[in-house]
Amino acid sequence: MPPDLSVQLTPGKKPGLALANPVMTASGTFGYGTEYADVFDIQRLGAIVCKGTTLKPREGNPQPRLLETAGGVLNSIGLQNIGVAAVIKEKAPVWAGWRVPVIINIAGDTAADYASLAAKLNGVKGVSGLEVNISCPNVREGGAAFGVRPDAAAAVTAAVRKATTLPVIVKLTPNTGDIAAVARACAGAGADAVSLINSIKGMAINIARRRPAIGNITGGLSGPAIKPVALAMVYEVAGAVTIPVIGCGGIASAADALEFLMAGASAVQVGSATYANPRAALDVLEGIEAFMAKEGIKSLGEIIGAARK
Ligand SMILES: Cc1cc2nc3c(=O)[nH]c(=O)nc-3n(C[C@H](O)[C@H](O)[C@H](O)COP(=O)(O)O)c2cc1C
Repeated sequence: MPPDLSVQLTPGKKPGLALANPVMTASGTFGYGTEYADVFDIQRLGAIVCKGTTLKPREGNPQPRLLETAGGVLNSIGLQNIGVAAVIKEKAPVWAGWRVPVIINIAGDTAADYASLAAKLNGVKGVSGLEVNISCPNVREGGAAFGVRPDAAAAVTAAVRKATTLPVIVKLTPNTGDIAAVARACAGAGADAVSLINSIKGMAINIARRRPAIGNITGGLSGPAIKPVALAMVYEVAGAVTIPVIGCGGIASAADALEFLMAGASAVQVGSATYANPRAALDVLEGIEAFMAKEGIKSLGEIIGAARK
């Protein structure tokens, strides 16, 4: 019998969010999924999280917006996206024919924006869940401001919860004092799961020009450099809430993903690694399968939280 990698991210709820395996893509690093359909069999993934979606289309921040740093990437895309109406009209019908569930990452300036996005996406065929981005470090309004304070995070979560029957995952920011308190507030306000971390606020300076190297001055740091930070936060949050935790931050290999699962994550997201290796998410999945086969592990439940016991 092959090992059982399936995971239920909304235990006991309908509609549920059952994944065939725990490997997801991270928002903003995998487009709308369609871009990678020719690169590998994306239907094998556990879930695809699409680019951050707002009520209106957005142009994003001034260039330059992406910079390689030691062990990571600084980005300040600023939620450039086609807007929710185009997502519903052009992307969802494609996703409706897929086996892999697609989760829409949503972002707004106010709690009412988030609720409106949730209401518009409720019942749309091809949309299996929402990831509420209260953690984007690259937009002036809303964004991370909601993720910094437990009360604001709870208000957005509650507004989304009221507006949808879809599974609700809230994506947390590391740029806060007490991420466990924010996670508890989201769980208390009706989140089905939390995902973490979004990128860490960072900066670089072009010394020849004596100017910040990123158009928006600061950006979000992602990639291998942030993995230990993300792992510590996942470990902390998994001990603070009873809802599933999705780990993200610097995952580039199966070994990285297994660390997050053992820290208590029920699933993982692969982000910046896809830039260096477009097949990264599939490599992570195949590596987990190989590890389980080699170690004689029959189900993912034997791995999740193994380092906590
Ligand atoms: C270019 C780029 C764009 C991103 N866009 C989004 C976004 O739209 N919404 C979101 O919640 N996170 C976004 N993120 C954050 C990632 O989903 C992820 O949380 C972060 O990069 C850490 O994971 P990683 O180290 O594996 O990349 C973006 C990251 C990058 C590098």
